[in-house]
Amino acid sequence: MEGWDGTRDGEPSDLTRRRWRRFGAGGAKLMWGGEAVAVRHDGRANPNQLLITPRTVAAIASMRGELVAAHRERFGSNADGDLYIGLQLTHSGRYARPDVYDRPAPLAACTHPLLDRRFPAGVRVLSDAELDTLVDDFAAAARLARDAGFRFVDVKACHGYLGHELLGARTRTGPYGGALENRTRFLQRVIAAIRAAAPGLEIGVRLSAFDTMPYRKRARDHVGEPETRPPDARTPDAMPGFGVAANDDDLDAALDEARGVLRLLDGLGVRWICVTGGSPYYNPHVQRPALFPPLDGYEPPEDPLRGVWRQIRATAILKREYPRMVLVGSAYSYLQEWLPHVAQHNVREGLCDFVGLGRIVLSYPDLPADVLSGAPLKRASFCRTFSDCTTGPRMGLASGCYPLDAFYAARPEAVRIRDARTDARTVAGIDK
Ligand SMILES: Cc1cc2nc3c(=O)[nH]c(=O)nc-3n(C[C@H](O)[C@H](O)[C@H](O)COP(=O)(O)O)c2cc1C
Ligand code: SF4
Repeated sequence: MEGWDGTRDGEPSDLTRRRWRRFGAGGAKLMWGGEAVAVRHDGRANPNQLLITPRTVAAIASMRGELVAAHRERFGSNADGDLYIGLQLTHSGRYARPDVYDRPAPLAACTHPLLDRRFPAGVRVLSDAELDTLVDDFAAAARLARDAGFRFVDVKACHGYLGHELLGARTRTGPYGGALENRTRFLQRVIAAIRAAAPGLEIGVRLSAFDTMPYRKRARDHVGEPETRPPDARTPDAMPGFGVAANDDDLDAALDEARGVLRLLDGLGVRWICVTGGSPYYNPHVQRPALFPPLDGYEPPEDPLRGVWRQIRATAILKREYPRMVLVGSAYSYLQEWLPHVAQHNVREGLCDFVGLGRIVLSYPDLPADVLSGAPLKRASFCRTFSDCTTGPRMGLASGCYPLDAFYAARPEAVRIRDARTDARTVAGIDK
């Protein structure tokens, strides 16, 4: 859970460290990635994203140490022996904004007839040679992560960022585009390079296992609607995209591409997968079901519960077919008070192996400890999906749970963010 709050050099700030300490004190044993960390400057999603280099690695290692210390302090001196902490490595590709938060500097995997229109200054497609170099950057970053004490790295392949966009680069020619075999080449090479550079480091992958057409805000009522395919892109191979489902009846078939990736990863011995879907940039209701949209979003086009169900279903289908893979499920925060019950059911019934906590870890970081100890749950801390943790960054501010975390509620930007949410809904005619 990224906070848009690192230093300009890519080191954690006091806010980042606070978040990681709260992860550590929360009672969870698996820390999947902590947050997205760029492998080089031009791949940062914002000027405050963490960046792992020889200069920043000591600070990132000490932040990990603070997480472990917070865990030990709360749960006892030997409690950290079974902590499993990974670091998510990424290049933001099309969504890179390394220097100014509102100035995109996209480095795409391929052109996209719909998404390119959202970048009036144009989109540059990375060359094959640049991708070859980037493989080495991932390997160097992974070696640093291992030296910093991380047990595994998550090679990010989700949410529209480069690793994900490459998986859908059907329209790209050459070794990294076209058939699925080529579209997975970058991932395969990164895994091989990490193995060579950092023996002993485990590897996981966070995968957007399915997707939809990009959504946009309908002018009339601000509800999200899918964009339509351009007339010259009616056949699947004429449009980029990975596992794009036309509707929920199509979800099982759309998972065929994810099946192909899982088969490949299984063969490579990479068995830890965090399943997610879609992207926060073009279908946020799919990626993180919410009642309230962020500033750059749209009113939900469906009951958010359907979005939760879609991710549970996709994960369960893949788990059934790849039982020896270890699958983490995502998108449970909208379930609120029901989250622990659904999580317990899903793990018990083998629909997934772990339940990942996203937004709720910002509002209620010690939910795992409370659930596992049977303590009364803190109703006032449940994430209510206000999306302020996304609206903040869209305004160039740090992320955080401004409505429910007293620390952020007391910060001056809390009022600006709440007003932006209220104004957006008033304009849309929702809150009059
Ligand atoms: C503020 C914020 C930061 C996030 N940061 C990351 C990140 O660094 N890496 C990542 O893979 N997903 C990130 N996500 C997506 C979440 O991990 C998760 O997939 C999504 O929020 C749905 O899960 P939830 O319902 O538990 O929130 C972020 C989401 C939010 C709202
Ligand atoms: S700001 Fe807080 S309540 Fe709102 S979505 Fe984020 S974590 Fe949940």
